[in-house]
Amino acid sequence: AESAGPDQPATGADIGALSDVPVGGSLAATLDGAPVLLAQPTAGAVVCFSAICTHQGCPVNAAGAEFDCPCHGSRFDAATGDVIRGPAIDPLTPIAVSVSGDRIVAAS
Ligand code: FES
Repeated sequence: AESAGPDQPATGADIGALSDVPVGGSLAATLDGAPVLLAQPTAGAVVCFSAICTHQGCPVNAAGAEFDCPCHGSRFDAATGDVIRGPAIDPLTPIAVSVSGDRIVAAS
């Protein structure tokens, strides 16, 4: 988390730096202490998902263009959150974000 200050975005909680998220890849982060996953499928287009696996609740890892659950091997598309491989059936829960300069913030 960044230190609070006059530059702090007023719109929502800070999640991370846009420049830390690889284009075509992904990054694990936190939002208000909860694990989330960021991805940048195309330059400047950022998506965010809860990292809680929809199968049985394990934290899912960022793995490039996919997210991988270490518990039972579910895999999700990092661009959409959709299931690529089960046992999970439901997609990861999306979190609305916006980009302010280089900061990714929760849209509220
Ligand atoms: Fe993620 Fe089972 S909890 S695959």
